[in-house]
Amino acid sequence: MCGIVGGIAQRNVSEILLEGLRRLEYRGYDSAGLAAMTDAGVIERCRRMGKVKELEQGLADHPFDGKAGIAHTRWATHGKPSEVNAHPHMSGERLAIVHNGIIENHDELREQLKADGYSFTSQTDTEVIVHLLHKYLQKTSNLSDAVKETVQVLDGAYALGVISADHPGKLVAARHGSPLVIGVGSGEHFIASDQLALLQVTDRFIFLNEGDVAELTADHIHVWDKHNEEVVHDVTRFDHQLGTADKGEFRHYMMKEIYEQPDVIRQCLEGRVSETRLLEQAFGVKAKEVLDQTQAIQIIACGTSYHAGMVAKYWIESLAGIPCQVEVASEYRYRKTVALPNSLFITISQSGETADTLAALRKAKDLGFTASLTVCNVPGSSLVRESDLAIMTNAGPEIGVASTKAFTSQLTALMLLTIALGRRHGMVDQVEEEIIKDLVKLPELVEKAIALDDKIEKMSQAFAEKHNSLFLGRGAMFPIALEGSLKLKEISYIHAEAYPAGELKHGPLALVDKDMPIVTVAPHNDLLDKLKSNLEEVRARGGELFVFADEKSKVKDADGLTVLNMPSCSDLMEPILYIIPLQLLSYHVAVLKGTDVDQPRNLAKSVTVE
Ligand code: G6P
Repeated sequence: MCGIVGGIAQRNVSEILLEGLRRLEYRGYDSAGLAAMTDAGVIERCRRMGKVKELEQGLADHPFDGKAGIAHTRWATHGKPSEVNAHPHMSGERLAIVHNGIIENHDELREQLKADGYSFTSQTDTEVIVHLLHKYLQKTSNLSDAVKETVQVLDGAYALGVISADHPGKLVAARHGSPLVIGVGSGEHFIASDQLALLQVTDRFIFLNEGDVAELTADHIHVWDKHNEEVVHDVTRFDHQLGTADKGEFRHYMMKEIYEQPDVIRQCLEGRVSETRLLEQAFGVKAKEVLDQTQAIQIIACGTSYHAGMVAKYWIESLAGIPCQVEVASEYRYRKTVALPNSLFITISQSGETADTLAALRKAKDLGFTASLTVCNVPGSSLVRESDLAIMTNAGPEIGVASTKAFTSQLTALMLLTIALGRRHGMVDQVEEEIIKDLVKLPELVEKAIALDDKIEKMSQAFAEKHNSLFLGRGAMFPIALEGSLKLKEISYIHAEAYPAGELKHGPLALVDKDMPIVTVAPHNDLLDKLKSNLEEVRARGGELFVFADEKSKVKDADGLTVLNMPSCSDLMEPILYIIPLQLLSYHVAVLKGTDVDQPRNLAKSVTVE
C-alpha cells in the first residue's frame, strides 16, 4: 500500500526521505516520487515507475535537494501504475502533495474543478485534492487553513503531506482513515505512514487522530482536531525492543521472520504467564470486567489474521464454552448484522490499520457490543487506539508481505485469551496448568520444526513446476490448511485451495490427479482416523500426497505419499506448530520459482484502503 514520508528541517531532507521510502518498500508499491522545496524557492519533483532505486537513479541524473520535502510510494488504485499517476501531484508549479487513501467523490470534484478551469494530468483521485487546495489558497494566505477547508469536502480516506513554494518553512499534514504519524526531532520534524520509516532520524512520535490537521515547521508542531480546536497530543517513544527492521544474515525478510518465531512466542508470553498460570492482570485493569460479562464473541479480521480468528473459534468454543463467530471484515462491514447479548467484539490485525477491519470496528460501536478488544502487533495503531482493550502480540516489525510471525504470535495471544475466558466458565480449571506448560515448551518445538528446513526445501522441488495444489486439514487444522494455501498462492503464484478434508467427496476429489500435489496436516489427534480415510480416497485416485504428521500418527512414506515427521505436541498447540513447515514450504517453492518473496506482485503488506 502507498507510503508517505515528509520532512522539514534545517538541513537537506532528500536523502532522509529516500531512506524513509526504502523502509516502507515492504508495504508493496509500483511507483515512487519525491518533491522538495529548493533554496531557490521552487519545488522540484522526480517520479519514477518501479522501485525506489529507479527514483534514486532519477535523482542522481537530475539532482536537487531542499529543507522541506515530501515523498511517496504508490500502489495503484485509481489509474494504472505510471509516472504521470505517481505522487507527488502538483497544481501549477508551486504546490505539491502526497496522498494515501481513496477519495470517493473524486469524479464529482473533478468535474467542478474542470469547470473552474483546472486541467488534469493524471487519472488519480489525488489530483483533485491538490487542485482543490490550490483553489482555496486563492482565498487565504494560510496553508493550514486551506488544507482544513479542502478536507471538509473530501469523502473517503486520506493521509496527506503538503508543501508550497509560497509557504516556505512549512509542511502541512492531515489524516482521516489512513495512518500518519509525526516524527519529532530537534530542529526538524517529519511525517510518515509508519514509524519504521523514520527510525533513522527519531524515536519520538505523535499519533494523529481521525480528522486532525497538523502544521510542522523545523521548530514547532501545531495540531488541530476535527472541530478545528488546537490540541496537544502526547509524544510516544518507539519501543526498540520491538525488534529491528533489517534482514540480518537472511536472504529475505520472510525467512528471517519465520526463524524469529520461537522468540516471538516467548515475547508474547512474557509477563503474561507464570510457570503454571495465566497472569490475567497482564491484559489490563479493564479486562476483568469485560471478560466477566462476555457470553458471546464476534471475531473480525482479514487475510492471515482471519485464519488466526478461525483457529480461535475452535479453542474458544471448546475450552471456554462461549459461542464464537468469525467473519472477514469486508463482508461484515456491509451487511446487516446482529450482536448477541453480552457480546465482545474482537478484531485481529498485524498492522492495526487494515481499512476494512477498522471500518467493522467502527460499525460495531453502534451495534450494542459490550466492548471491543483488538489482538494487534502495532502499538499506537488505529485499532489499538479505537478499541476498549488491546492485547499486543509483541512480534516486532513484520516486513515480509506474507505474514508469518504475526500469525503465530496472534495464535499465542488468542490461546491466552481463551484461557482467561475459560476461567469464567470453570472450563479450564483442570487443564490450565497443562496448557501453560505446553505454551512455555512451544518455542522449543517450533525450533525443532524450523530445523526440518532442509527436508522441506527438498520437498519443495515437487511443487515448483505445478500449477495447482490442494491443502487439507480437519478441525482446528482446517484453518492451518487455509493459511498454508494462502502462503503458497501469495508468494509462489501457484493456485492453492484449502478444504476441510471431510468435504473432499463433495467436489475437490474431481480435481485429484498426478499433477495436483495435496498437502495434508495430520497430527495425532481425535480426527486422525477420519483424516486417514480421506487420504486413502486421494491415493486411490492417483493424487500425490505430502503429509505433515508426528510419529504417533503412524503415516509412512509410500508410493505417492511423502511424510514429513513433525515433533509431537499436545492437540491445542498443533495449529501453532504445524503452520511452520507450511510457511517454509511456500518460501522454498517461491525461491525456486524466482518470485519476489518479500513483495509479491499486486499485494500489499498493510491494506489501508478498501
Ligand atoms: C494484507 C497482508 C496480509 C494480512 C492482511 C490483513 O493482505 O498482505 O499478510 O494478513 O492484509 O492485515 P492485518 O494487518 O489486518 O493483519
